[in-house]
Amino acid sequence: MKVAPSILSADFSRLKEEIATVSSAEWLHIDVMDGHFVPNLTIGPAVLSALRPHTSQTFDTHLMIEDPKKYFDPFIKAGSDHITFHLEAVDNVDELLDELHAKGVKAGLSIKPATPVSSLDPYLDKLDVILVMSVEPGFGGQTFLDGALPRIDALNRKRQADGHSYLIVVDGGINEETAARCKQAGADVMVAGSYIFKAKDREARIAKLR
Ligand code: DX5
Ligand code: ZN
Repeated sequence: MKVAPSILSADFSRLKEEIATVSSAEWLHIDVMDGHFVPNLTIGPAVLSALRPHTSQTFDTHLMIEDPKKYFDPFIKAGSDHITFHLEAVDNVDELLDELHAKGVKAGLSIKPATPVSSLDPYLDKLDVILVMSVEPGFGGQTFLDGALPRIDALNRKRQADGHSYLIVVDGGINEETAARCKQAGADVMVAGSYIFKAKDREARIAKLR
């Protein structure tokens, strides 16, 4: 099990020190919001560029934005290793996944809680990451939606049946209890914001998610 602390819940006035407190995590999850696809506005590429020299952790970039293609290059240049965009935000998914691969980064698709899991079917072969939202995207600190569990299970079964190699990542309301249930359903990576960053002993919390 890999863990991806979401820096959305970190103290933005001291981000460099904050990421040093979660150094045992394999990935850092970066929530990019544009005020259109979701109501909130958050992090741009300049923040990634500033953090990049201070860690070798994978930058797992979650674009909750309209027209994600427009920002592929700035985020790649800023040091993103993974770029995940929302299926609901675009109509040329294949082309965008190909573009990310051509630019040398891992490509991911995310789905909101109400989007049928089967809408990912045409793209399963091309995906490095599937990010299953277990809350409505937009804000940290929300309650896990149990409906994510059968969705994770369905993606895990498809992967086993058809030999796909995508990682199943869960995002929203993750704590030690919901993480255990997601793991049992077949998830590979836990994104967690408030559970990790609102705690004093963050490394202990990361260990509890594995
Ligand atoms: C929500 C974001 C999440 C968020 C998770 O739109 O995609 O990554 O930071 O925060 P918690 O773990 O607090 O639910
Ligand atoms: Zn996220």
